[in-house]
Amino acid sequence: MDKFEYAEISKKYRELVESELDRIASNEAAAIYPTLKDAMFYSLEAGGKRIRPCLMLAVCEMLGGRAEKALPFACALEMIHTYSLIHDDLPCMDDDDMRRGRPSNHKVFGEAMAVLAGDGLLSFAFEHMLSAALESGEKGALLAACEIAKRAGAAGMVTGQAADIEYEGAAVQTEDMLHFIHIHKTADMLSAAVLAGAHIAGADEKTLASLTLYSEKMGLLFQITDDILDYKGDPALMGKTLGKDMEQGKLTYASLLGLEGAELAAKQAAEEALAAISEIPGSGYLAATIENMLVRSN
Ligand code: IPE
Ligand code: IPE
Ligand code: MG
Ligand code: MG
Ligand code: MG
Repeated sequence: MDKFEYAEISKKYRELVESELDRIASNEAAAIYPTLKDAMFYSLEAGGKRIRPCLMLAVCEMLGGRAEKALPFACALEMIHTYSLIHDDLPCMDDDDMRRGRPSNHKVFGEAMAVLAGDGLLSFAFEHMLSAALESGEKGALLAACEIAKRAGAAGMVTGQAADIEYEGAAVQTEDMLHFIHIHKTADMLSAAVLAGAHIAGADEKTLASLTLYSEKMGLLFQITDDILDYKGDPALMGKTLGKDMEQGKLTYASLLGLEGAELAAKQAAEEALAAISEIPGSGYLAATIENMLVRSN
């Protein structure tokens, strides 16, 4: 699949997700306290690449499922991802002022409301996906909800964020710990996307195993390129605060291996991700996602 086809298919998925988020804002979200709802949707509807929901819809369709069935789970995952960004930017965490091309949530709504906007998005996501699972009554939908809960949760993304914070400026920083942080804070949410899409399509064990490996390698690749772009990305393209990982003593591939070492690690993760899906028929979009990530500028 060439990059034009990849961009076109991604646009189709992105539009599907964004119009569903708009629909949710004016329907299910109507009862949320106005200031809280404004804060939640300020960040949720600020754009972003929508990589996770697009991947979920693509995997579901690749395995013969209907994208519409995965849509509530894709939107829920984007809500959880957005909550993680709002909290990640708080002064007590990374203390960043820009996100998705706008002032960070706490810069506009204040810290207390930003904490609550994150809480709101997380719990609203669960309400949304569990209602969808209940309505569908299919085991695949429940498996998808469990996968998202586990990967986003205390032993998943939140564990990665906790280790990321604790290892800031640590005297001993090892590659093992760096791998642990990236696998959890970033890869788990990408695995949630890929595996939830697969569960909804009723994937078999062999396919699930290949996709697990693919998504873990993709997660490493994605965070390594994020770390590299923190050093040399264009803030206007990235839409967020850059250049602070070093100042804050973050443990990253770039800090541990240098930019060249990080670039090599990214290439290796990309190759391993591609190898993991080489036997899955129709995986062109998944392969193009990896190729695109390796050269991304946002
Ligand atoms: C940012 O994720 C957080 C990381 C895991 C590096 P994205 O780069 O996917 O952010 P958005 O959704 O496009 O804003
Ligand atoms: C955070 O990683 C990943 C999350 C779980 C939010 P970073 O702290 O590197 O993400 P950015 O660079 O702020 O987007
Ligand atoms: Mg962080
Ligand atoms: Mg951050
Ligand atoms: Mg970063």
